[in-house]
Amino acid sequence: MRIGVLISGRGSNLQALIEAAAKPDYPAEIALVIANQPEAAGLQRAEAIGIPTQVIDHRLFPSRVGFEAAVTDALCTAGCELVCLAGFMRVLTGDFVARWTDRLINIHPSLLPAFPGLHTHAEALATGVRITGATVHFVREQVDQGPIIGQAAVPVHDDDTADTLAARVLEAEHALYPHCVRLVADGRATVSGHRVRIAEADTRQSALLNPPLADGRS
Ligand code: GRF
Repeated sequence: MRIGVLISGRGSNLQALIEAAAKPDYPAEIALVIANQPEAAGLQRAEAIGIPTQVIDHRLFPSRVGFEAAVTDALCTAGCELVCLAGFMRVLTGDFVARWTDRLINIHPSLLPAFPGLHTHAEALATGVRITGATVHFVREQVDQGPIIGQAAVPVHDDDTADTLAARVLEAEHALYPHCVRLVADGRATVSGHRVRIAEADTRQSALLNPPLADGRS
């Protein structure tokens, strides 16, 4: 399956997808990386191994609709069948989301529906949860909502700051996103109402990752 990845910055999740897609049995290839910020560091990660990139700077478009039409054009020209948001910091309109229904996925650094939006890790600490994590979900019009493909659980430590917690969650994201893209690209993750069904003998293993169990402290 040809995928397009949309980024705005660092691109560490893009890097995780690049590394996964380099494996011979991986069912997806990255056909295009689009950044809405010309200085997005993730662009260099893609260029380094010859993946086509395109900067579509939202500030050059008078309307959100015009910007999104350019994004859709680029994705279609590259033959993308699945779009992965990876730290893409623009809210998408309902029209764009509808255009890519069930072919547009996002990663968020919390166990949704807890802590949507920004400042996720600070909120997790302020709330006092003992477990947080990451979620990959199909995108719907409401930000950080939509049928959940997979989640990874991460412990919160007493001495965590938002930064240390973010780093631990990010590590889990890098395992979770390629895993979930594989499920979608294999046709094993299908939307059924508000839920995603995973066509596999043991769905407990395929939809939930638990990397913190190996971190020695939990
Ligand atoms: C990640 O934490 C992701 O979950 C969130 O934005 C961050 C992007 O990081 N949506 P990176 O650009 O992939 O390094």
